[in-house]
Amino acid sequence: MWLFGYGSLIWRPDLEYEDSKVGYIKGHVRRFWQSSTDHRGTEEAPGRVVTLIPYDEFSERFINEDQHFSELDGLTWGVAYKIPESKVAETKAYLDHREKNGYETHFLDVYQPGSDVPVVEKAIVYIGSTDNSEFAGPAPLDLIAKQIYSSCGPSGPNMDYLLNLAHALRIVAPHGNDQHLFELEAKVKELMRQDAESQEAFDLM
Ligand code: BEZ
Repeated sequence: MWLFGYGSLIWRPDLEYEDSKVGYIKGHVRRFWQSSTDHRGTEEAPGRVVTLIPYDEFSERFINEDQHFSELDGLTWGVAYKIPESKVAETKAYLDHREKNGYETHFLDVYQPGSDVPVVEKAIVYIGSTDNSEFAGPAPLDLIAKQIYSSCGPSGPNMDYLLNLAHALRIVAPHGNDQHLFELEAKVKELMRQDAESQEAFDLM
């Protein structure tokens, strides 16, 4: 069994695997449009984590509400992990628990540049579809950044999830084009800077 990670699985796989390949899946757009009340937020103050929107649905329904539509190519970079045969059942049970908040499993091919032949066929991918109860949908990037900056759940601060994902993606796929992610990262870092500045001013008083 191969599992493709495009979110926390990139930087925190927490699984036993015997091989891994960096690559991309086609026909989807990664967005911070899934609510997290169980990991990176709470029922009272949900965080936001990534999900994948099918490219065609994105173009039909959301393109006017999205700042980064001009860069869209429908390719999502991530990491595919090969799970040892003896660990498949355990891994599935673990992931179904870890990703219970609205995600379902899909099977997608994983590609690398320069070939139309997949490097991995039918990898499992966890996707929160647009009709799942935790789908938060589009919002202005400034608001998403503030929500991520201020939310925290049992797995830790929502902002750690964002910053770790951006950092890891730059390392594993330096050419991976994800302006939505990198602009959110810049906005959250700016909020951190502003907070540190106000704290310094307060300490000097
Ligand atoms: C991921 O890292 O691919 C992922 C894992 C669970 C839910 C959504 C994405």
